Amino acid sequence: VAHVADGMIVGLGSGDTASRAIRMLAGRKIVGVATSEKSAALGRSVGLEVRAPDEIAAIDLTIDGADEIDPALRLIKGGGGAHTREKLVARASRSMIVVVDAHKRVARLGERMRLPVEILPFGARWTLSRLAALALDPRVRAGVVTDNGNLLADCALGPVADLAALAAAIKALPGVVEHGLFLDEATLAYVGTDAGVDRLTR
Ligand code: A5P
Repeated sequence: VAHVADGMIVGLGSGDTASRAIRMLAGRKIVGVATSEKSAALGRSVGLEVRAPDEIAAIDLTIDGADEIDPALRLIKGGGGAHTREKLVARASRSMIVVVDAHKRVARLGERMRLPVEILPFGARWTLSRLAALALDPRVRAGVVTDNGNLLADCALGPVADLAALAAAIKALPGVVEHGLFLDEATLAYVGTDAGVDRLTR
């Protein structure tokens, strides 16, 4: 939050960690662009001006959490199902600061967490069988509908030689809206540990 200056346009992430950042921004003279309905409501409730993405050309800085982070600052996001809007906001941002605690750190993405993939309800059966054909063992997250009205398929990520190629293959399926691999977006990460805060850059 110390990176935020008055007058900035700030992407407001989703999840518990991002919510803490939003609360710490209470009353600041910034414009927020929210990555979920929940974060928009939280931002407004603490006195932030929250605007729709279509009113904003570019975002100065986004602060968000992550479910996993590897040494190359690559992330899995979407544990809360907000990764599609999170990725749109991150890509519209000049920089993306990720805030996590130490247990989110992994040597290999997919080590602890399934990869969330947002899929259209229409033709979901076909999309799930395409994801299964990519050896991702997709499981529909029961009872969950995203802010965009879609379903989530949580996928198993084994050791993958080329994550960028896998990301492209998932994204190429017509029923896929977005996956939770953030391979290039994060510019800086703060990792909270028992001994203090580690600062990671690319
Ligand atoms: C929301 O869909 C996610 O991408 C969150 O950013 C991620 O799950 C981290 O959330 P927590 O801060 O609640 O762990």
